[in-house]
Formats: sequence, structure tokens, C-alpha cells
Amino acid sequence: MINIALPKGRLGERVYRILEQVGYPCPSVLEDNRKLIFENPEAGVRYFWVKPSDVASYVERAAADVGIAGKDVLLEYQPEVYELADLGIGKCRMCAAGRRGFRDRRDQTLRVATKFPKIAKGYYSAQSRDIDIIKLHGSIELAPLVGLSDVIVDLVETGKTLQENDLEVIETIVPISARLIANKVSYKFKYQEITALCSQVDELCRQR
Ligand code: PRP
Repeated sequence: MINIALPKGRLGERVYRILEQVGYPCPSVLEDNRKLIFENPEAGVRYFWVKPSDVASYVERAAADVGIAGKDVLLEYQPEVYELADLGIGKCRMCAAGRRGFRDRRDQTLRVATKFPKIAKGYYSAQSRDIDIIKLHGSIELAPLVGLSDVIVDLVETGKTLQENDLEVIETIVPISARLIANKVSYKFKYQEITALCSQVDELCRQR
């Protein structure tokens, strides 16, 4: 039995359809209810719906053998897991952004609002820029609009949220996409199953 942590939401549903196609079906996963665990013993698979930012914790601690996590979460938390494949979906980019026309006056500490303090610190320390991190959990774009921060470090997908709030990208820090990750012990003890799943998923994603 292979235990798979799926990120709750649209990305998770897309990933499930890929896994279903390559031989890990469990149709009850897509039922409209609030259950969190789904099992198909015949296919040898058990799925969990997990908050996207928690997938890496479930996999790191072996509650799941494999999972699908955003590269953003992997860069931020650096969990002890194997990153097996880039699925090439859930694409977006991690960016520094500010109000339109914002110019950084380097004589003052830059106030940076973000859900990703580690990524933000890494980015600004590479520029030797002195910053003050304001850790938020959502609606990051609001911070510079109401004077809570000078800039933000956040995910940009379509760019619509920035645009509709008179913000603009200052610089792209890193491109982001969904990654297949595995627990290190599971990888050893369920090597055949995990590598088979990985190569099938990888192949299908490359064809898309
Ligand atoms: C994410 C991200 C941006 C937005 C970017 O937020 O933090 O706010 O999506 O998408 P766009 O470029 O397509 O507009 P999310 O929807 O996860 O909500 P949050 O505000 O709770 O972080």
C-alpha cells in the first residue's frame, strides 16, 4: 500500500487525475464530501487530502510515503525529503513586488511582508540589503497599500492580484511548480513502488 498526500484544491485534483491515469485509481477521492482519507486496496493506494503547505510535513514524518508539494514550500521549509520529479503544473513564480513606481531608498531598512520569510531573507541577504520581515498568512498584497510594508515577497500566477491593487513585480526570485516528493525511509523500503509511480508520473507530465 502506498500512501499519497494530495494538496487540497484544484492542483490536487489535477494530480489525482494524473495518478489515476497511471494506475492508482481511487474514484471516491473526488466525491463531494468532507472525508480526508480514501483507499483502494485493489490498486494498493491510500490518498489523504492535506493543506498544500502541510504536504511536506506529512511526507517528512512518514505519515505519507509520497506527496505533491509546491517548490515554494520546499524552499521555505527545506524538509528532509527526496524531490523526485517536477510535474510542470501549478506553475507560478516567487517575486518581490511593490507599489507601481516604487524605488528602494537603500539608506533605510526595507520592510518586507511575506508568507515566505526564509526565501525573502535569502533573496535580500544576497543583495546585502537590510530588511525587516513582517510575516503574514494571506492577502500579502494589502501590506504595502496600507503602509504595513514597503514591498512584498509572494507568489504571482496570473499577475491579476498585483495589477488590480496597483502593484508591480520588482524582480522574479524563482520559478515555482509542483514537485513529487518522497519520504526517505519509504523510498528505501518501497523502492519499487515509488520509483515505478515516479517514472510513470514523470513520463505522463512530460507528454503534456
Ligand atoms: C496567492 C498569492 C497571491 C495570488 C497570486 O494567494 O499569494 O496573492 O495567489 O495569484 P495571481 O497572480 O493569479 O493573482 P492565494 O490565492 O493563495 O491567497 P492568500 O492571499 O490567502 O495567500
